[in-house]
Amino acid sequence: MDSISVTGGNQLNGVIPISGAKNAALPLMIASLLTAEELILRNVPDLADVRQLKKILNNHGVKIEEVAGGGKSDPLAGATLSFNTPKITDTCAPYDLVSTMRASFWVIGPLLAREHEARVSLPGGCAIGSRPVDYFIHGLEALGAHIEIDEGYVVAKAPKGGLIGAMIRLPTPSVGATHTILMAATLAKGTTTILNAAMEPEITNVAECLVAMGAKITGIGTRTLIIDGVASLHGASIDVVPDRIEAGTFAMAVAMTGGDVLLKGAQRQHLQAALDILQANGVKITEEADGIRVQASGDRLRAVDVEIDTFPGFPTDLQAQYMTLMTRADGIAKIKETIFENRFMHVAELARFGAKIDSEGQVATVTGIEKLKGAQVMATDLRASVSLVIAGLVAEGETNVSRIYHLDRGFERLEEKLGACGANIQRITK
Ligand code: UD1
Repeated sequence: MDSISVTGGNQLNGVIPISGAKNAALPLMIASLLTAEELILRNVPDLADVRQLKKILNNHGVKIEEVAGGGKSDPLAGATLSFNTPKITDTCAPYDLVSTMRASFWVIGPLLAREHEARVSLPGGCAIGSRPVDYFIHGLEALGAHIEIDEGYVVAKAPKGGLIGAMIRLPTPSVGATHTILMAATLAKGTTTILNAAMEPEITNVAECLVAMGAKITGIGTRTLIIDGVASLHGASIDVVPDRIEAGTFAMAVAMTGGDVLLKGAQRQHLQAALDILQANGVKITEEADGIRVQASGDRLRAVDVEIDTFPGFPTDLQAQYMTLMTRADGIAKIKETIFENRFMHVAELARFGAKIDSEGQVATVTGIEKLKGAQVMATDLRASVSLVIAGLVAEGETNVSRIYHLDRGFERLEEKLGACGANIQRITK
């Protein structure tokens, strides 16, 4: 199994190109199931989750090809992929394909909308909480679907003639439930209103793609999405938005080590809450024409409390990285996780670096110390694993992060990007 070895102490300087967002690429790929025509996605990152979803879509009959050159001048830009699904050949998403990635469950929306039936294994993904699918089930039932759980599968059937528009209020603004109900509603008869919808930039990216495919959606970028169903969707081409979580992660890495890095392609409005906190910590953030510039001295930063929230709040996917940053801050920071009930698994691993963190329920109290010491640590989930790499960048001596298959699910060429800015980091392949 691969691991990452980091020797701490180097500052980061240079330019880091931000990849297309995993959390947008996955639902955009899934949206290709909604049309018999060609969907073209540009700036698709090369990630383990994207490769896995390609296999899942292939199983449903989607033909996926890389468009040669893809019109890209930058060799580091993501791929341009073409998706063609003249016919859905299988409406079942089997356990062995979907068990590693929660987002693969979202195929249930388009399958049900286009084929009026779906059999999808209950999802897997990072073990950061129980992550149930009740909102999806209630939402699809409101659209008229009949749903049963059978041997670990959700079996859904639309009424004769297809799904029917409805008013759906999500108990909390779930990203996955919003994507799924939104996609399902594009082909339903009549109007669907999703109240308390998630409004993450990746939802907006998908909604704009659906509009380009002929869907009728208003309220994009707000908590209320209104969808007027249409009979069919057509082909389109769209760019995957830059990955705000990758950008925020690198911003925190620079804040930690000190240095001066341009996060090329990063969009300030997608990351405002985290950038505000970094500024309060003492990091200089400047918006430039081609991205966000992050400058830090490498001295200890001010400790600032953070409460995680849905977009536009401080993202849960940056919580672990921020906790790492606070381990060396001057003072005490309280970090409150509000989205997932079990997302502090990195606390025990950060303690191996000497970090002082007490966690109780959903609140972690981090008492900053002068120095971290390199350690042998283990990645526990996708975002937590990168927080350990960030700790290694400043820790004295060598750090080895094992089980980095978690990291490969969501970070493209991490060690290459950090290495190019001066980090002493290598992947060890066994
Ligand atoms: C998505 C992101 C993930 C991010 C999360 C929160 C992708 C591929 N993944 O995950 O990176 O951390 O949003 O921003 O985009 N919930 C229920 N019942 C449901 C659905 C959700 O109780 O039916 C709960 C979950 O257990 C969780 C909360 O709602 O506590 C938020 O989950 P959700 O927004 O759905 O996250 P994901 O879509 O899984």
